[in-house]
Amino acid sequence: MRKSELNETLPYLYEASVQGVDNDLDFAGRIYRRRHGRRPKRIREDFCGSALLASTWVRRRPANRAWGVDLHRPTLDWSRRHHVERLSRPEADRLELIEGDVRTARIPPVQVTFALNFSFCIFYTRDELREYFAAAREGLEDGGVLILDLYGGTEAVKEKEEPRAVDGFTTPEGVRVPPFTYVWDQDFYDVITHRCRNYIHFRIPGVGTIRRAHHYDWRLWTIPEVRELLAEAGFRSSEAYLHGWTDDGESDEVWRRRTSYENAEAWIAYLAGWR
Ligand SMILES: C[S@@+](CC[C@H](N)C(=O)[O-])C[C@H]1O[C@@H](n2cnc3c(N)ncnc32)[C@H](O)[C@@H]1O
Repeated sequence: MRKSELNETLPYLYEASVQGVDNDLDFAGRIYRRRHGRRPKRIREDFCGSALLASTWVRRRPANRAWGVDLHRPTLDWSRRHHVERLSRPEADRLELIEGDVRTARIPPVQVTFALNFSFCIFYTRDELREYFAAAREGLEDGGVLILDLYGGTEAVKEKEEPRAVDGFTTPEGVRVPPFTYVWDQDFYDVITHRCRNYIHFRIPGVGTIRRAHHYDWRLWTIPEVRELLAEAGFRSSEAYLHGWTDDGESDEVWRRRTSYENAEAWIAYLAGWR
C-alpha cells in the first residue's frame, strides 16, 4: 500500500479491525427466528458509516432489503464508491443509504434495526438517549428488535492503550494492506459524568502511524441504564446477551442471554429491545 492510497483505504482498516458484521447478522437472525419462527428480511443500520453490515445483508439473500442511515456524507459517498459499486444491480436496488439523523430519518418499518459499535453512546443524557430509542422503536414493525452493543468491565474505565495485530488483506480494488496494528486508546474517563474519550490509531508497516484515525467522545452507559431507557421509550421487553470465555480468558464469541454475569475485566454485550 502506498501512502497516497491511505485515505481511500482507511475505512477498510476500520472494518477489518473492529467490525464483525457476519456475527452481528447471524446473532440478530438467530434471536429473531427463535421468537418469530421466520427469518427477518428488512433491516436498518443506524450510524451506518461505511454501511458494511447493510451491504452484506442485501448480498445474503434475494429477499433481503436494507436501509443505512448516517449523518456524514463523505463516509456514505465512500460506501457508494466501494461497497454499493460492488453489488449486483438487483442487490444495489435493495439497499438505500440515507444521509440524515437517526432520530428523524423516515424509512419504511423494518424487522431489525442495528446501532452498533457503541454508536448510541454519543447521546449523553437520559432524555437524548430515550428520544433516540423512541425513534428507533417507531422505525420497527410490531415484534421488531433493536440491536445495540455495549462494552464494560473493570478495565473499561481505565486509561490505557491496547494494541492488537490485524491480518493483512487485499482490498477489492487490489490495494495490498500488510498485517498492521490496531490500537484502542482509552484516553480519558470521568467518574462524575461517565464521559469518556477514546481513539483508534493504526500502525501500518511501510506507511507509518496514523494517530487518532478515529476519535470518540462518549458517555459510557451501563446495561441497566440502557434497559430502563428502552422500557421508558416504549419497548415491550429487553434482553442482555453476553459472551463466555475461552481457556485463555478471551471472549468465546458465543453470546447467550443472561440475567447475571461475573464482574469481568472486559466484556461486550448485545442488548436487544423488542417492540
Ligand atoms: C462508530 S461509527 C459506526 C460505524 C459502523 N456502523 C460500525 O458499526 O462500526 C459512528 C457513525 O455514526 C454517525 N453519526 C453520529 N451521530 C449520528 C446521528 N445523530 N445520526 C446519524 N448518524 C450519526 C457518524 O457519522 C459515524 O459514521
